Amino acid sequence: MNTVALSQIIQNKSNPEDLPHVPVMEEEVLRLLAEIRPRSVADGTCGAGGHAHTLLENVSSIERYFCIDWDKNALSIARKRLNSHKNRVEFVHSNFRHIPQLIPAYGISKLDAILLDLGLSTMHLTSSGRGFSFTKDEPLDMRMDDSEPTTALDLINNLSEAQLAALIREYGEEKWAKKIAGVVKDYCEHTSIPTSKGLAEAIKRAIPRRFHPKRIHPATRTFQALRIALNRELDNLKVALHDFPNILNEGGRFLVISFHSLEDRLVKHSFKNDPRMRPITKRPLRPTSQEITVNPKARSAKLRCAERISAEEVNNV
Ligand SMILES: C[S@@+](CC[C@H](N)C(=O)[O-])C[C@H]1O[C@@H](n2cnc3c(N)ncnc32)[C@H](O)[C@@H]1O
Repeated sequence: MNTVALSQIIQNKSNPEDLPHVPVMEEEVLRLLAEIRPRSVADGTCGAGGHAHTLLENVSSIERYFCIDWDKNALSIARKRLNSHKNRVEFVHSNFRHIPQLIPAYGISKLDAILLDLGLSTMHLTSSGRGFSFTKDEPLDMRMDDSEPTTALDLINNLSEAQLAALIREYGEEKWAKKIAGVVKDYCEHTSIPTSKGLAEAIKRAIPRRFHPKRIHPATRTFQALRIALNRELDNLKVALHDFPNILNEGGRFLVISFHSLEDRLVKHSFKNDPRMRPITKRPLRPTSQEITVNPKARSAKLRCAERISAEEVNNV
C-alpha cells in the first residue's frame, strides 16, 4: 500500500480540535500494520484510543484488539470513543509489561502486532490534576497509574540530594542537575503545600536566564526525569523489548513510538540485536513537517518497527 493510497483510505481521520490527545504518526502506524493484515493486536498504550480508532476503522482483518493502559481515565475515554467497535475490543487496565501474562485469559497466546506509543498523553497535561504540567498549581503526584502508592513528592523526599541530582542528570539529560536537585529539595522541605507550578518556578529562578533553553521551559527536563523515574518507564520498556518477541506470531510486528533519546536507544539496540526480530525500519521514521505544523507535540517522535522471524530462522542465526 503506498502512502498516497493510504491517506486516501484513512476513514474519519482524526481532527486535532476534537481530540483529547492527537495521535502521532497515524498514517505510518497504519501502513506498517495494514500491510501484514493482522488479526490480533495489542495496543499497550491505548490512551484516548486515537491509534486504536484509526486501526479499527481501516484494518478489517483485525478480530481482537486489546486496549491496554495503566491510566483508568484514559481507558474510559477510549471505551466511549471505540464504542462502535466494541465487539472486537477488550479494555484492560494494566501496565503493558504484563501483556504476556494477561492475554491467555482471553484465549490468546500469541499476537500479530503490538503497538507502544510511549510517554504522556495530552490529557495528563491538561486535565489529570496530577502535577504533570508546570503551568498549573497541582499536587506533585505524577503517577500515571494512581493506584500505585508512591508520588513524585514521596520520591523527592525519600532521595538524598545527590541521588536526586543523579536521577535528574540521567533521565532528564540536564546539565544543571546538581543545582536543580538542591532547589527541588529545598522547595519541597520548606513549602507547606508544594505544587507543580511552584516547583517549576523555583527551578526557573535557579538557572541563570542566559542558560534557559530556547524552546522549552527550564523545568521541562526535571519534570520529565521525575516522571520517568517514578513510573519506571525505561524498565517497563526493557521488559517489553525482552518479552514481547516471544508472544508475536511469525511475521508479527512490534511498533514503538518514542519521544526520548534514552527510549529510542533501547528500542534501536534491541531491534538490531535481538535474534528473534528483523528490523523493518532501518532508521526511525519521523513525523512529516506537515504533521509537526498541525501537532507540534509530535516533533520529537521516532517510530521503529521490527518483525518476528520464524523459529527456524532464529535457530539458524
Ligand atoms: C502518548 S499516550 C498514547 C496515545 C494513544 N496512542 C492515542 O492515540 O490516543 C501514552 C499512553 O500510554 C500510557 N502508558 C505509558 N506507559 C504505560 C505502561 N507501562 N503501561 C500501560 N500504559 C502506559 C499512558 O497512560 C498514556 O495514556
